[in-house]
Amino acid sequence: MKLQIVILICFVLLNVTTSYASISPSDVAGQIESILSNCSMAGNNCYGTSFGIVVDMYDLSTQQFTNLYNLNDEMDFTPASSTKLLTTTTIFYTFGEDFVALTPFFTDKPYNADKEDLDFICVKGQGDPSFNINSLVDAAQFFSKAGSVNNLIIDNTFYQGDPVPQNWEWADLTSGYGAIPTPLMINENTMNVFINPTNQGAPPTISFQYPGEDTYLPVINLATTGAPNTPNTIQIRFRPASPFITIMGSIPSGSAKMSKNIPILNPEAYFLNVFGSMLKDNGVTIRNTMVGSCNNTGYDYKSFQVVSPPLNQMLNYTLLVSDNIYAETFLRLLGTTNTNPNLPAATTPTYLRGLDTIQSTLGIDTTLYTQDDGCGLSRQNFITPKALVSVVEGVYTNAGDPNHDFISFLPVSAVSGTLKRRFINTSAQGIVHAKTGSMTGVDSLTGVILQDGIHQNDPNIPIIFFSIIANNENSQVNGKVIPIIDEIIVLLSQVTSF
Ligand SMILES: *[C@@H]1O[C@H](CO)[C@@H](O)[C@H](O)[C@H]1NC(C)=O
Ligand SMILES: *[C@@H]1O[C@H](CO)[C@@H](O)[C@H](O)[C@H]1NC(C)=O
Ligand SMILES: *[C@@H]1O[C@H](CO)[C@@H](O)[C@H](O)[C@H]1NC(C)=O
Ligand SMILES: *[C@@H]1O[C@H](CO)[C@@H](O)[C@H](O)[C@H]1NC(C)=O
Repeated sequence: MKLQIVILICFVLLNVTTSYASISPSDVAGQIESILSNCSMAGNNCYGTSFGIVVDMYDLSTQQFTNLYNLNDEMDFTPASSTKLLTTTTIFYTFGEDFVALTPFFTDKPYNADKEDLDFICVKGQGDPSFNINSLVDAAQFFSKAGSVNNLIIDNTFYQGDPVPQNWEWADLTSGYGAIPTPLMINENTMNVFINPTNQGAPPTISFQYPGEDTYLPVINLATTGAPNTPNTIQIRFRPASPFITIMGSIPSGSAKMSKNIPILNPEAYFLNVFGSMLKDNGVTIRNTMVGSCNNTGYDYKSFQVVSPPLNQMLNYTLLVSDNIYAETFLRLLGTTNTNPNLPAATTPTYLRGLDTIQSTLGIDTTLYTQDDGCGLSRQNFITPKALVSVVEGVYTNAGDPNHDFISFLPVSAVSGTLKRRFINTSAQGIVHAKTGSMTGVDSLTGVILQDGIHQNDPNIPIIFFSIIANNENSQVNGKVIPIIDEIIVLLSQVTSF
């Protein structure tokens, strides 16, 4: 018994006192170089990969940055989702943490719930990325006491110009992660299609989740139910400018119903079909549905309004999961408040006005970056590691954010979001606050290492800012550069001031 207790205590002590190597700031450059040169040898994971790296150390007592390492820090890279740092810090600075996005539902007269007929309900989308099917269910419930509605109108004109990001690829636009950022979106402009196997040789049945989705999305069903335990080869195809989707391939008989998340490529038609069906299901007669402008019909009565969560919650969500459509919406919201007279509101696409707002707000030398979209899906984002690290350094040391709220929205190593499964059981666990980025050929990580927590104020503990971008990864080893990025971060997490 005694022996067991002693062993237990030893075990606990060992765990608590696990200590990591300490690395002097002056050794950082040499150690990063040796990681990179080994990894870049023929046959190793980074062979042919280009890296851009900046590492800075911040001294709390002098409020000075000391550069510890630079590699191609002023060269352009494709940073993927690290681009979101530019968009999210700017909306954080300019709109404030309490900002909410509103979606008003206007009527032609006061709505008073006694089966009166309405001439119109006009819904104006104003860039609430959190608007979802439950918001619509609430609205349909609210209007369920109307007798009939002559015109159900959606006004999706809040943004100027094509809402489709210019340089997104067709493969992105037809996937759930690349849905179109329109002023009014339901469930981030994505929906589910269910494919249910029937008898072998017969087509599977196709079904949807919400009323009206079947009339919104006609399906050409070319799929078959295959033999039991055969591979599932179901594919969904979109064609440009076609309302149809085609489902093909084979789903094994006896397998579970499968669900596919697909983008809503015509959000206005989707809204009118689904909200119209919900109102009908609630006993309201709808005579016409149309895409229009609430201005033409008057803004007299705002009968109902959906309110988004405050910006701090939306930013936290966006950065934790790296949500593209939230970031694109933030870019457009920034565009709606742009006052640059050289970019007239009536003719300049809203997202371009948003990019201009980011430039003027961040004040980073524009030779250091060309931003093309809000979220980083575009391969026309050309951004230097120096620009990205400046954003995080700027927001950390910004007097307007003394509690480091923005930093608290970033994923934390081994704890949350896209970093939850990285750095587990390393010296970097729990202390790296950073934004990830990944797409074919690209991996990036930009953030700050706070060894003593987000509110650390001991001037003897270094604060390390970094941006690492890998481009042109070998397609055979794509993604295998992440362990190298992590190796560098683990090294940086061991830097001491002495
Ligand atoms: C060099 O790279 C090889 C292959 O990736 C790896 O096994 C080895 O541990 C690396 N050596 C050092 C010193 O990092
Ligand atoms: C539309 O309504 C808004 C008020 O919400 C107003 O600012 C704007 O000037 C109106 N536009 C037109 C063309 O009437
Ligand atoms: C961010 O979201 C996570 C997960 O929902 C939550 O645990 C955390 O408290 C949030 N952080 C902030 C600063 O709001
Ligand atoms: C981390 O360490 C704990 C405790 O030693 C262990 O249970 C766990 O499996 C480790 N996880 C990883 C991913 O190494």
